[in-house]
Amino acid sequence: MRYKNALQHSIFKIISQSADALCIEAYVIGGFVRDYFLERGDAKDIDVVAIGSGIELAQHVANSLPNKPKVQIFKTYGTAMLKFDDIEIEFVGARKESYTEDSRNPVVENGTLEDDQNRRDFTMNALALGLNNSNFGELLDPFQGIEDLENKLIKTPLNPDITYSDDPLRMMRAIRFATQLNFKIEEASLEAISKNKNRIKIITKERIVTELNKILESDKPSIGFIHLEKTGLLEYILPELTALKGIDEKEGQRHKDNFYHTLEVVDNICQTTDNLWLRWAALLHDIGKAPTKRFSKKVGWTFHGHEFVGSKMVYKLFKRLKMPLNEKMKFVQKMVFMSSRPIVLASDVTDSAVRRLVFDAGDYVDDLMTLCEADITTKNPRKFQKYHNNFKIVRDKIVEVEERDQVRNFQPPVSGEEIMKTFNLKPSREIGVIKEAIKEAILEGEIPNEYEAAFELMLEKGKALGLTIDN
Ligand code: CTP
Repeated sequence: MRYKNALQHSIFKIISQSADALCIEAYVIGGFVRDYFLERGDAKDIDVVAIGSGIELAQHVANSLPNKPKVQIFKTYGTAMLKFDDIEIEFVGARKESYTEDSRNPVVENGTLEDDQNRRDFTMNALALGLNNSNFGELLDPFQGIEDLENKLIKTPLNPDITYSDDPLRMMRAIRFATQLNFKIEEASLEAISKNKNRIKIITKERIVTELNKILESDKPSIGFIHLEKTGLLEYILPELTALKGIDEKEGQRHKDNFYHTLEVVDNICQTTDNLWLRWAALLHDIGKAPTKRFSKKVGWTFHGHEFVGSKMVYKLFKRLKMPLNEKMKFVQKMVFMSSRPIVLASDVTDSAVRRLVFDAGDYVDDLMTLCEADITTKNPRKFQKYHNNFKIVRDKIVEVEERDQVRNFQPPVSGEEIMKTFNLKPSREIGVIKEAIKEAILEGEIPNEYEAAFELMLEKGKALGLTIDN
Protein backbone atom coordinates (compact mmCIF):
# COMPACT_ATOMS: atom_id res chain seq x y z
CA MET A 1 0.00 0.00 0.00
CA ARG A 2 1.15 3.55 -0.72
CA TYR A 3 0.38 6.42 1.64
CA LYS A 4 1.37 9.46 -0.38
CA ASN A 5 -1.04 11.55 1.68
CA ALA A 6 1.27 11.24 4.66
CA LEU A 7 4.07 12.82 2.64
CA GLN A 8 2.38 15.98 1.42
CA HIS A 9 4.84 18.34 3.05
CA SER A 10 7.23 19.74 0.42
CA ILE A 11 10.27 18.52 2.39
CA PHE A 12 9.53 14.90 1.44
CA LYS A 13 9.80 15.60 -2.30
CA ILE A 14 13.16 17.26 -1.70
CA ILE A 15 14.46 14.36 0.40
CA SER A 16 13.19 12.01 -2.31
CA GLN A 17 15.10 13.84 -5.06
CA SER A 18 18.27 14.01 -2.95
CA ALA A 19 18.09 10.31 -2.13
CA ASP A 20 17.63 9.41 -5.82
CA ALA A 21 20.46 11.75 -6.85
CA LEU A 22 22.79 10.04 -4.35
CA CYS A 23 21.45 6.56 -5.17
CA ILE A 24 20.61 6.05 -1.50
CA GLU A 25 17.46 4.36 -0.23
CA ALA A 26 15.62 6.59 2.25
CA TYR A 27 12.63 6.04 4.49
CA VAL A 28 10.66 8.10 6.97
CA ILE A 29 10.28 6.04 10.11
CA GLY A 30 9.14 6.08 13.73
CA GLY A 31 6.90 8.60 15.48
CA PHE A 32 5.96 10.54 12.34
CA VAL A 33 4.56 7.46 10.60
CA ARG A 34 2.88 6.20 13.77
CA ASP A 35 1.22 9.54 14.41
CA TYR A 36 0.02 9.76 10.78
CA PHE A 37 -1.88 6.49 11.20
CA LEU A 38 -3.15 7.59 14.60
CA GLU A 39 -4.27 10.92 13.10
CA ARG A 40 -2.47 12.67 15.93
CA GLY A 41 -1.97 15.92 14.03
CA ASP A 42 1.04 17.44 12.36
CA ALA A 43 4.31 16.12 13.69
CA LYS A 44 7.18 18.51 14.30
CA ASP A 45 9.84 15.78 14.31
CA ILE A 46 10.66 13.68 11.30
CA ASP A 47 13.09 10.76 11.43
CA VAL A 48 14.64 9.69 8.16
CA VAL A 49 16.68 6.56 7.83
CA ALA A 50 19.10 6.14 4.92
CA ILE A 51 20.61 2.90 3.72
CA GLY A 52 24.01 4.51 3.53
CA SER A 53 25.20 7.79 4.93
CA GLY A 54 22.51 9.80 6.70
CA ILE A 55 24.93 12.70 7.01
CA GLU A 56 25.56 12.86 3.26
CA LEU A 57 21.83 12.77 2.58
CA ALA A 58 21.20 15.56 5.10
CA GLN A 59 23.83 17.74 3.46
CA HIS A 60 22.39 17.18 0.00
CA VAL A 61 18.89 18.03 1.28
CA ALA A 62 20.15 21.19 3.00
CA ASN A 63 21.83 22.36 -0.22
CA SER A 64 18.61 21.79 -2.13
CA LEU A 65 16.54 23.92 0.24
CA PRO A 66 16.05 27.62 -0.62
CA ASN A 67 17.40 28.91 2.71
CA LYS A 68 20.29 26.38 2.85
CA PRO A 69 19.84 25.54 6.56
CA LYS A 70 22.79 24.53 8.71
CA VAL A 71 23.24 20.81 9.21
CA GLN A 72 24.09 19.76 12.73
CA ILE A 73 26.23 16.65 12.67
CA PHE A 74 26.64 14.17 15.52
CA LYS A 75 29.61 12.12 14.29
CA THR A 76 29.61 9.55 17.09
CA TYR A 77 26.06 8.52 16.31
CA GLY A 78 26.31 9.02 12.55
CA THR A 79 23.29 11.31 12.64
CA ALA A 80 22.57 14.74 11.22
CA MET A 81 19.79 17.20 11.93
CA LEU A 82 18.40 20.17 10.09
CA LYS A 83 15.48 22.51 10.58
CA PHE A 84 13.05 23.45 7.85
CA ASP A 85 10.08 25.73 8.64
CA ASP A 86 9.38 24.67 12.20
CA ILE A 87 10.14 21.00 11.57
CA GLU A 88 13.22 19.17 12.83
CA ILE A 89 14.42 16.46 10.50
CA GLU A 90 16.86 13.91 11.78
CA PHE A 91 18.82 11.74 9.35
CA VAL A 92 20.45 8.52 10.35
CA GLY A 93 22.15 5.71 8.48
CA ALA A 94 20.40 2.36 8.95
CA ARG A 95 21.99 0.67 11.90
CA LYS A 96 22.53 -2.64 13.46
CA GLU A 97 23.08 -2.14 17.15
CA SER A 98 24.31 -4.21 19.99
CA TYR A 99 24.24 -3.10 23.58
CA THR A 100 26.47 -3.68 26.55
CA GLU A 101 25.33 -4.48 30.10
CA ASP A 102 26.03 -1.17 31.76
CA SER A 103 25.11 1.43 29.20
CA ARG A 104 22.22 2.38 26.99
CA ASN A 105 24.67 3.62 24.34
CA PRO A 106 24.99 0.89 21.76
CA VAL A 107 27.85 -0.31 19.62
CA VAL A 108 26.76 0.60 16.09
CA GLU A 109 27.40 -0.97 12.68
CA ASN A 110 25.90 -0.20 9.26
CA GLY A 111 22.84 -2.25 8.49
CA THR A 112 19.81 -2.78 6.30
CA LEU A 113 16.37 -1.24 6.75
CA GLU A 114 15.33 -4.47 8.44
CA ASP A 115 18.20 -4.29 10.91
CA ASP A 116 17.12 -0.77 11.69
CA GLN A 117 13.48 -1.70 12.17
CA ASN A 118 14.50 -4.60 14.39
CA ARG A 119 16.33 -2.40 16.82
CA ARG A 120 13.38 -0.04 17.36
CA ASP A 121 11.31 -0.05 20.51
CA PHE A 122 7.78 -0.92 19.43
CA THR A 123 6.11 -2.37 16.37
CA MET A 124 4.13 0.85 15.94
CA ASN A 125 7.42 2.82 15.98
CA ALA A 126 9.07 0.57 13.40
CA LEU A 127 6.66 1.55 10.60
CA ALA A 128 8.45 3.09 7.62
CA LEU A 129 7.35 4.81 4.41
CA GLY A 130 9.53 4.75 1.29
CA LEU A 131 10.87 8.09 0.10
CA ASN A 132 12.58 7.22 -3.18
CA ASN A 133 10.64 7.91 -6.36
CA SER A 134 10.23 4.18 -7.00
CA ASN A 135 8.52 3.51 -3.67
CA PHE A 136 7.29 6.94 -2.54
CA GLY A 137 4.75 6.47 0.24
CA GLU A 138 5.03 2.66 0.30
CA LEU A 139 4.48 1.21 3.75
CA LEU A 140 7.04 -1.22 5.16
CA ASP A 141 5.55 -2.92 8.16
CA PRO A 142 7.47 -6.13 8.88
CA PHE A 143 6.09 -6.56 12.42
CA GLN A 144 2.38 -5.92 11.81
CA GLY A 145 2.61 -2.54 13.50
CA ILE A 146 -0.59 -1.37 11.79
CA GLU A 147 -2.47 -4.32 13.22
CA ASP A 148 -1.14 -3.48 16.68
CA LEU A 149 -2.20 0.14 16.24
CA GLU A 150 -5.69 -1.04 15.35
CA ASN A 151 -5.74 -3.36 18.35
CA LYS A 152 -4.34 -0.60 20.54
CA LEU A 153 -1.45 -2.78 21.58
CA ILE A 154 2.11 -1.93 22.54
CA LYS A 155 4.42 -4.70 21.44
CA THR A 156 8.16 -4.97 20.81
CA PRO A 157 9.52 -6.12 17.43
CA LEU A 158 11.97 -8.55 19.05
CA ASN A 159 11.78 -10.62 22.20
CA PRO A 160 10.78 -7.97 24.78
CA ASP A 161 13.50 -9.11 27.13
CA ILE A 162 16.09 -7.99 24.58
CA THR A 163 14.35 -4.77 23.60
CA TYR A 164 14.00 -3.53 27.21
CA SER A 165 17.31 -4.77 28.46
CA ASP A 166 19.06 -3.11 25.47
CA ASP A 167 17.55 0.25 26.37
CA PRO A 168 15.69 0.34 29.69
CA LEU A 169 14.27 3.80 28.94
CA ARG A 170 11.86 1.89 26.71
CA MET A 171 10.16 0.51 29.83
CA MET A 172 9.14 4.05 30.66
CA ARG A 173 8.28 4.76 27.03
CA ALA A 174 5.98 1.73 26.84
CA ILE A 175 4.11 2.88 29.91
CA ARG A 176 4.04 6.48 28.73
CA PHE A 177 2.61 5.51 25.30
CA ALA A 178 0.05 3.26 26.98
CA THR A 179 -1.06 6.25 29.04
CA GLN A 180 -1.05 8.83 26.25
CA LEU A 181 -2.80 6.61 23.73
CA ASN A 182 -4.86 4.52 26.13
CA PHE A 183 -3.27 1.36 24.70
CA LYS A 184 -2.67 -2.00 26.32
CA ILE A 185 0.84 -3.28 26.84
CA GLU A 186 1.33 -6.83 25.63
CA GLU A 187 1.57 -9.30 28.53
CA ALA A 188 5.06 -10.53 27.55
CA SER A 189 6.23 -6.92 27.60
CA LEU A 190 4.86 -6.33 31.07
CA GLU A 191 6.64 -9.43 32.29
CA ALA A 192 9.89 -8.32 30.66
CA ILE A 193 9.57 -4.88 32.27
CA SER A 194 9.07 -6.47 35.70
CA LYS A 195 12.08 -8.66 35.09
CA ASN A 196 14.32 -5.82 33.92
CA LYS A 197 13.02 -3.17 36.31
CA ASN A 198 16.33 -2.68 38.13
CA ARG A 199 17.98 -1.73 34.81
CA ILE A 200 16.12 1.58 35.09
CA LYS A 201 19.07 2.61 37.29
CA ILE A 202 21.26 3.20 34.22
CA ILE A 203 18.82 5.78 32.86
CA THR A 204 19.46 9.41 33.68
CA LYS A 205 17.03 11.11 36.04
CA GLU A 206 16.27 13.76 33.43
CA ARG A 207 15.00 11.19 30.94
CA ILE A 208 12.90 9.50 33.56
CA VAL A 209 11.34 12.81 34.54
CA THR A 210 10.61 13.63 30.89
CA GLU A 211 8.57 10.44 30.69
CA LEU A 212 6.90 11.06 34.05
CA ASN A 213 5.91 14.52 32.87
CA LYS A 214 4.42 13.08 29.70
CA ILE A 215 2.42 10.62 31.81
CA LEU A 216 1.22 13.45 34.02
CA GLU A 217 0.30 15.52 30.97
CA SER A 218 -1.99 12.76 29.71
CA ASP A 219 -5.75 12.71 30.23
CA LYS A 220 -5.62 9.82 32.69
CA PRO A 221 -2.21 9.51 34.37
CA SER A 222 -3.43 6.72 36.68
CA ILE A 223 -3.02 4.28 33.76
CA GLY A 224 0.73 4.97 33.78
CA PHE A 225 1.19 5.01 37.54
CA ILE A 226 -0.66 1.72 37.96
CA HIS A 227 1.65 0.14 35.36
CA LEU A 228 4.69 1.67 37.04
CA GLU A 229 3.57 0.27 40.37
CA LYS A 230 2.61 -3.19 39.14
CA THR A 231 5.85 -3.69 37.20
CA GLY A 232 7.90 -2.57 40.21
CA LEU A 233 9.40 0.48 38.49
CA LEU A 234 7.68 2.96 40.78
CA GLU A 235 9.56 1.62 43.79
CA TYR A 236 12.80 2.75 42.12
CA ILE A 237 11.52 6.07 40.85
CA LEU A 238 9.03 7.35 43.43
CA PRO A 239 9.19 5.18 46.56
CA GLU A 240 7.29 7.96 48.38
CA LEU A 241 4.22 6.89 46.40
CA THR A 242 4.53 3.14 46.83
CA ALA A 243 4.83 3.78 50.58
CA LEU A 244 1.22 5.01 50.45
CA LYS A 245 -0.05 1.65 49.27
CA GLY A 246 -2.18 -0.61 51.36
CA ILE A 247 -4.89 -0.48 53.96
CA ASP A 248 -4.15 -1.20 57.59
CA GLU A 249 -6.77 -2.41 60.00
CA LYS A 250 -6.54 -2.25 63.78
CA GLU A 251 -9.36 -2.89 66.20
CA GLY A 252 -11.88 -2.72 63.40
CA GLN A 253 -10.64 0.64 62.13
CA ARG A 254 -9.33 1.02 58.60
CA HIS A 255 -7.89 3.91 56.64
CA LYS A 256 -8.18 4.35 52.88
CA ASP A 257 -5.48 3.20 50.44
CA ASN A 258 -3.71 6.49 49.95
CA PHE A 259 -1.93 5.36 46.79
CA TYR A 260 -5.11 4.66 44.84
CA HIS A 261 -6.75 7.69 46.40
CA THR A 262 -3.84 9.81 45.13
CA LEU A 263 -4.26 8.44 41.62
CA GLU A 264 -7.94 9.35 41.68
CA VAL A 265 -7.04 12.87 42.76
CA VAL A 266 -4.54 13.15 39.89
CA ASP A 267 -7.11 11.93 37.33
CA ASN A 268 -9.65 14.35 38.76
CA ILE A 269 -7.38 17.37 38.59
CA CYS A 270 -6.45 16.55 34.98
CA GLN A 271 -10.04 17.28 34.06
CA THR A 272 -9.78 20.83 35.33
CA THR A 273 -6.19 21.97 34.79
CA ASP A 274 -3.33 21.58 32.32
CA ASN A 275 -0.85 23.04 34.79
CA LEU A 276 1.83 20.35 35.05
CA TRP A 277 2.99 21.57 38.46
CA LEU A 278 -0.48 21.51 39.92
CA ARG A 279 -0.71 17.95 38.62
CA TRP A 280 2.58 17.18 40.40
CA ALA A 281 1.11 18.72 43.55
CA ALA A 282 -1.88 16.38 43.27
CA LEU A 283 0.48 13.42 42.87
CA LEU A 284 2.48 14.38 45.95
CA HIS A 285 -0.18 15.94 48.15
CA ASP A 286 -0.40 12.97 50.52
CA ILE A 287 3.22 11.69 50.54
CA GLY A 288 3.64 12.85 54.13
CA LYS A 289 1.00 10.35 55.19
CA ALA A 290 3.33 7.33 55.16
CA PRO A 291 5.85 8.66 57.71
CA THR A 292 3.19 10.28 59.93
CA LYS A 293 0.74 7.39 60.14
CA ARG A 294 -0.21 6.51 63.75
CA PHE A 295 -2.92 4.52 65.44
CA SER A 296 -4.47 5.28 68.77
CA LYS A 297 -7.41 3.58 70.45
CA LYS A 298 -9.11 6.88 71.07
CA VAL A 299 -9.06 8.45 67.61
CA GLY A 300 -8.07 5.62 65.29
CA TRP A 301 -5.73 6.34 62.38
CA THR A 302 -4.12 9.77 62.19
CA PHE A 303 -1.60 11.49 59.93
CA HIS A 304 -0.79 14.51 62.06
CA GLY A 305 1.35 17.11 60.36
CA HIS A 306 1.53 15.14 57.11
CA GLU A 307 1.19 18.35 55.07
CA PHE A 308 4.31 19.85 56.65
CA VAL A 309 6.30 16.61 56.43
CA GLY A 310 5.09 16.11 52.85
CA SER A 311 6.19 19.59 51.79
CA LYS A 312 9.68 18.88 53.14
CA MET A 313 9.73 15.58 51.24
CA VAL A 314 8.91 17.45 48.01
CA TYR A 315 12.28 19.19 48.16
CA LYS A 316 14.20 15.93 48.62
CA LEU A 317 12.25 14.22 45.89
CA PHE A 318 12.81 17.05 43.39
CA LYS A 319 16.51 17.09 44.27
CA ARG A 320 16.87 13.34 43.86
CA LEU A 321 15.16 13.39 40.47
CA LYS A 322 17.18 16.43 39.37
CA MET A 323 14.00 18.42 38.89
CA PRO A 324 14.06 22.22 39.08
CA LEU A 325 14.57 23.53 42.62
CA ASN A 326 13.03 26.85 41.69
CA GLU A 327 9.66 28.52 42.10
CA LYS A 328 7.93 25.47 40.51
CA MET A 329 9.19 23.32 43.37
CA LYS A 330 8.17 25.98 45.89
CA PHE A 331 4.72 26.06 44.34
CA VAL A 332 4.35 22.28 44.71
CA GLN A 333 5.59 22.54 48.31
CA LYS A 334 3.09 25.26 49.07
CA MET A 335 0.21 23.29 47.60
CA VAL A 336 1.17 20.19 49.60
CA PHE A 337 1.65 22.23 52.77
CA MET A 338 -1.71 23.95 52.44
CA SER A 339 -3.63 21.02 50.99
CA SER A 340 -5.86 20.52 54.04
CA ARG A 341 -6.58 24.16 54.80
CA PRO A 342 -9.73 24.65 52.71
CA ILE A 343 -11.13 21.34 53.96
CA VAL A 344 -10.95 22.44 57.57
CA LEU A 345 -12.49 25.71 56.56
CA ALA A 346 -15.36 24.29 54.56
CA SER A 347 -17.31 23.24 57.64
CA ASP A 348 -17.27 26.74 59.10
CA VAL A 349 -16.62 29.48 56.58
CA THR A 350 -15.81 32.61 58.58
CA ASP A 351 -14.53 35.81 56.99
CA SER A 352 -11.36 35.80 59.04
CA ALA A 353 -10.46 32.20 58.15
CA VAL A 354 -10.97 33.01 54.45
CA ARG A 355 -8.84 36.15 54.78
CA ARG A 356 -6.06 34.05 56.34
CA LEU A 357 -6.33 31.49 53.57
CA VAL A 358 -6.05 34.15 50.87
CA PHE A 359 -3.20 35.82 52.75
CA ASP A 360 -1.23 32.57 53.07
CA ALA A 361 -1.94 31.18 49.60
CA GLY A 362 -1.56 34.51 47.79
CA ASP A 363 -1.92 34.18 44.03
CA TYR A 364 -2.19 30.41 44.34
CA VAL A 365 -5.47 30.37 46.21
CA ASP A 366 -7.44 29.31 43.10
CA ASP A 367 -5.00 26.47 42.40
CA LEU A 368 -5.34 25.38 46.01
CA MET A 369 -9.12 25.26 45.71
CA THR A 370 -8.78 23.25 42.48
CA LEU A 371 -6.55 20.76 44.31
CA CYS A 372 -8.99 20.43 47.20
CA GLU A 373 -11.93 19.88 44.88
CA ALA A 374 -9.98 17.14 43.08
CA ASP A 375 -9.26 15.62 46.51
CA ILE A 376 -12.95 14.78 46.96
CA THR A 377 -13.03 11.09 46.06
CA THR A 378 -15.87 9.87 48.26
CA LYS A 379 -18.15 7.36 46.58
CA ASN A 380 -21.09 8.56 48.63
CA PRO A 381 -23.05 10.86 46.27
CA ARG A 382 -24.62 12.82 49.12
CA LYS A 383 -21.26 13.57 50.73
CA PHE A 384 -19.70 14.28 47.32
CA GLN A 385 -22.31 16.93 46.63
CA LYS A 386 -22.06 18.36 50.12
CA TYR A 387 -18.26 18.80 49.96
CA HIS A 388 -18.46 20.39 46.53
CA ASN A 389 -21.17 22.76 47.72
CA ASN A 390 -19.05 23.72 50.72
CA PHE A 391 -16.08 24.50 48.50
CA LYS A 392 -18.34 26.56 46.27
CA ILE A 393 -19.24 28.59 49.33
CA VAL A 394 -15.53 28.99 50.16
CA ARG A 395 -14.82 30.09 46.57
CA ASP A 396 -17.63 32.67 46.68
CA LYS A 397 -16.42 33.92 50.02
CA ILE A 398 -12.87 34.28 48.66
CA VAL A 399 -14.18 36.56 45.91
CA GLU A 400 -16.21 38.58 48.39
CA VAL A 401 -13.38 38.98 50.92
CA GLU A 402 -10.93 39.73 48.13
CA GLU A 403 -13.04 42.56 46.76
CA ARG A 404 -13.48 44.10 50.15
CA ASP A 405 -10.19 43.52 51.94
CA GLN A 406 -7.61 42.82 49.23
CA VAL A 407 -5.31 40.64 51.27
CA ARG A 408 -4.12 38.46 48.36
CA ASN A 409 -0.76 40.20 48.06
CA PHE A 410 -0.90 41.84 51.41
CA GLN A 411 1.16 44.99 51.85
CA PRO A 412 0.93 46.48 55.36
CA PRO A 413 -0.93 49.80 55.09
CA VAL A 414 1.56 51.34 57.55
CA SER A 415 5.21 50.76 56.75
CA GLY A 416 8.03 50.01 59.17
CA GLU A 417 9.58 53.32 58.25
CA GLU A 418 6.48 55.22 59.22
CA ILE A 419 6.41 53.45 62.57
CA MET A 420 10.07 54.39 63.17
CA LYS A 421 9.41 58.00 62.20
CA THR A 422 6.30 58.34 64.36
CA PHE A 423 7.96 57.02 67.51
CA ASN A 424 11.49 58.13 66.67
CA LEU A 425 12.72 54.54 66.79
CA LYS A 426 15.82 52.87 65.46
CA PRO A 427 15.26 49.42 63.89
CA SER A 428 14.00 47.37 66.81
CA ARG A 429 11.74 44.58 68.00
CA GLU A 430 8.85 47.00 68.70
CA ILE A 431 8.43 47.72 65.00
CA GLY A 432 7.86 44.04 64.31
CA VAL A 433 5.39 43.79 67.19
CA ILE A 434 3.34 46.72 65.90
CA LYS A 435 3.39 45.50 62.30
CA GLU A 436 2.28 42.03 63.37
CA ALA A 437 -0.54 43.50 65.50
CA ILE A 438 -1.79 45.50 62.50
CA LYS A 439 -1.65 42.47 60.20
CA GLU A 440 -3.46 40.30 62.76
CA ALA A 441 -6.18 42.92 63.30
CA ILE A 442 -6.79 43.14 59.56
CA LEU A 443 -6.90 39.38 59.08
CA GLU A 444 -9.21 39.00 62.08
CA GLY A 445 -11.47 41.70 60.65
CA GLU A 446 -11.03 43.97 63.67
CA ILE A 447 -9.98 46.85 61.43
CA PRO A 448 -10.35 47.34 57.66
CA ASN A 449 -7.29 47.00 55.41
CA GLU A 450 -6.89 50.79 55.21
CA TYR A 451 -4.30 53.37 56.14
CA GLU A 452 -6.33 55.47 58.62
CA ALA A 453 -7.46 52.53 60.72
CA ALA A 454 -3.98 50.98 60.68
CA PHE A 455 -2.43 54.29 61.71
CA GLU A 456 -4.83 54.58 64.65
CA LEU A 457 -3.99 51.06 65.76
CA MET A 458 -0.27 51.79 65.45
CA LEU A 459 -0.65 54.73 67.84
CA GLU A 460 -2.62 52.62 70.28
CA LYS A 461 -0.13 49.72 70.20
CA GLY A 462 2.82 52.12 70.50
CA LYS A 463 1.29 53.65 73.55
CA ALA A 464 0.73 50.22 75.10
CA LEU A 465 4.42 49.47 74.48
CA GLY A 466 5.34 52.65 76.32
CA LEU A 467 6.51 54.49 73.20
CA THR A 468 6.11 58.25 72.84
CA ILE A 469 5.21 60.12 69.73
CA ASP A 470 7.93 62.21 68.13
CA ASN A 471 6.52 65.68 67.35
N1 CTP B 1 13.29 4.86 19.56
C1 CTP B 1 13.65 3.64 20.10
N2 CTP B 1 14.00 3.54 21.42
C2 CTP B 1 14.05 4.66 22.20
C3 CTP B 1 13.70 5.90 21.67
C4 CTP B 1 13.31 5.97 20.35
O1 CTP B 1 13.60 2.63 19.40
N3 CTP B 1 14.43 4.55 23.47
C5 CTP B 1 12.93 4.96 18.13
C6 CTP B 1 11.48 4.69 17.85
O2 CTP B 1 11.39 4.09 16.59
C7 CTP B 1 10.89 6.09 17.82
C8 CTP B 1 12.00 6.88 17.16
O3 CTP B 1 13.19 6.27 17.65
O4 CTP B 1 9.70 6.16 17.10
C9 CTP B 1 12.00 8.37 17.50
O5 CTP B 1 12.09 8.57 18.88
P1 CTP B 1 11.53 9.85 19.62
O6 CTP B 1 11.58 11.01 18.71
O7 CTP B 1 12.22 9.94 20.93
O8 CTP B 1 10.06 9.44 19.97
P2 CTP B 1 8.74 9.33 19.11
O9 CTP B 1 8.43 7.90 18.89
O10 CTP B 1 8.83 10.19 17.91
O11 CTP B 1 7.60 9.84 20.11
P3 CTP B 1 7.57 11.13 21.05
O12 CTP B 1 7.87 12.29 20.19
O13 CTP B 1 6.18 11.08 21.60
O14 CTP B 1 8.59 10.87 22.13
